[in-house]
Amino acid sequence: MEQKPRILTGMRPTGPLHLGHYVGALENWITLQEKYACYFLIADYQALGDYSDDIPRIRQSVIDVTLDWLAVGLNPNDHKFVIQSYIPEHAELAMLLGTLVTLPRLHRNPTLKGEMDQQKASDITVAFYTYPVSQVADILLPKAHLVPVGEDQMPHIELTREVARKFNRTYEDIFPEPKGLVGRIPRLVGIDGQAKMSKSLDNAIYLSDDKETVNQKVRRMFTDPTRLRATDPGHVENNPVFMYHDAFNTDHAQLEDLKTRYRAGRVGDVEVKNILAEHLNNFLDPIREKRHYYEKNPSLVRDALLQGTNHAKILAEETMREVRESMGIKQYV
Ligand code: TRP
Repeated sequence: MEQKPRILTGMRPTGPLHLGHYVGALENWITLQEKYACYFLIADYQALGDYSDDIPRIRQSVIDVTLDWLAVGLNPNDHKFVIQSYIPEHAELAMLLGTLVTLPRLHRNPTLKGEMDQQKASDITVAFYTYPVSQVADILLPKAHLVPVGEDQMPHIELTREVARKFNRTYEDIFPEPKGLVGRIPRLVGIDGQAKMSKSLDNAIYLSDDKETVNQKVRRMFTDPTRLRATDPGHVENNPVFMYHDAFNTDHAQLEDLKTRYRAGRVGDVEVKNILAEHLNNFLDPIREKRHYYEKNPSLVRDALLQGTNHAKILAEETMREVRESMGIKQYV
């Protein structure tokens, strides 16, 4: 049988997934399932870096994220859903690869730097500080070739490539250098126009939101602030409502017509929003249906996680044997 190239990608279980996750990453995961053997990682070790004070949230999110994955059409039979902490090899490899990353190199990671700037220095844990190294281990453990992710994750993949090269040069050539891949819409703004969707800002539309919730959120979505009346010419660019239209309106002729009329002051925000809400709900309906099915069949969710994790564990053990052997450790006496 011909071996497919591998994907490893993942998410931290810190809350339900939203539309930004979908267009930034999940959509790619879904289509790439055809050509790749995929490992979808629930990175709970990594989540502990920020939520060690709220482990119930992590426990709940492991299930929520899995339901979201199943609902959007990730296939746990042909591919593997993997719980990171069930495979302690993740921790072992992270520790070993930490020997190949210097502090100045870690500090050059703009994503890490941005996240650290948002926290009080006295709150930052060592686990958080070194999570990019643990992410490198996640990717190298199954020897992934491709890592489809949101744009903010790209610095971690660049680091992974460097560590793979350094390992291969220093010890034996065992790791492929994985490539990153960003989705169709690298960053979807929040409904308030802020750069990022987040739970704490209460500006996200979740894949699990019901119809009425979506309608309400679209109603309070920010739009062109310079436009006071429906007869004023409006701006389509940088207008959150139109950014969402661009992402989710599948009727291109309708969208072009709306843009033309909006620019000319011939359509009100209410109408543009109503049409958007309809498209979002049409998009979400089949996802809701599938989610509902898996919510009613929790044993399928459990099986997906345990089966995938068992497979990944075997592969992880294999890689770790190779790593120890090529480094010449654990064979002293
Ligand atoms: N950092 C990712 C997130 O915040 C989760 C993650 C952990 C990941 N390990 C990974 C993503 C490996 C891609 C590859 O959601």
